[in-house]
Amino acid sequence: MSATTGEIKRVTTHVIQAMKQRGEKIAMLTAYDFSMARILDESGVDMLLVGDSASNVMAGYETTLPITLDHMIYHAQSVVRAVHRAMVVVDMPFGTYQANSEIALKSAIRIMKESGAHAVKLEGGLEVEESIKRILMAGIPVMGHLGLTPQSIYKFGTYTVRAKEEAEAQKLREDAQLLDQLGCFALVLEKIPAHLAKIVSESIEIPTIGIGAGPDTDGQVLVTHDMLGITKDFKPRFLRRYLELFDVIREATKHYISDVKARDFPSETEQY
Ligand code: KIV
Repeated sequence: MSATTGEIKRVTTHVIQAMKQRGEKIAMLTAYDFSMARILDESGVDMLLVGDSASNVMAGYETTLPITLDHMIYHAQSVVRAVHRAMVVVDMPFGTYQANSEIALKSAIRIMKESGAHAVKLEGGLEVEESIKRILMAGIPVMGHLGLTPQSIYKFGTYTVRAKEEAEAQKLREDAQLLDQLGCFALVLEKIPAHLAKIVSESIEIPTIGIGAGPDTDGQVLVTHDMLGITKDFKPRFLRRYLELFDVIREATKHYISDVKARDFPSETEQY
């Protein structure tokens, strides 16, 4: 049940799966810090993703590759401290699950133990099957991620739409089936054709969460900094900006600076 319909105290994997069954869309956003997570949680968002997009929007790196497990745990701890209702999912960063399933399990356990988050997300299908199995066997819920998987950006060479060709679409459909059968609780589909996202969403039991994947996924996710217009120059077609916060903050900051320079701030009522 979402904020609009009311009563759920804590969103769990079961709540998310029940939402798919009754056709209620799932709203997910990214969060990386306490203050923003608190606002988003109070707004009634169903899931918060501590995405490795923190590497871009928080740390200023060009890709998601440099962010470390320690960084992700720090961000996740801050988010978990703020949240009362939303389910918190944490991205496993590049290099913490690809080598083998033992490393993957150790990384996932560190995330769960040290952050108090509720699930992990990792990118890929067949290539990471053993890692997913091992993490699930330890009782840790796993969210999959197919389509444009930014940790593979140097393999793709571009952030363009994935799975337009039949061979890649076929692999994506097979990977989605695999993740469903393995027991992932949900699946992110990033930047793929809308008709393919529809077919995948209808052919698997678990909810799909789309970003640039059209209207027929079971839910949607956006990077909060993009949705609020804090990241100014990132304007892909799939993005809807609900605010132009970069401009709002810049204007407020200019106002503050001019008040300080003009000796207008602090006033008599703003001192002891
Ligand atoms: O890291 C992230 O923000 C993500 C979303 C784009 C799904 O993986």
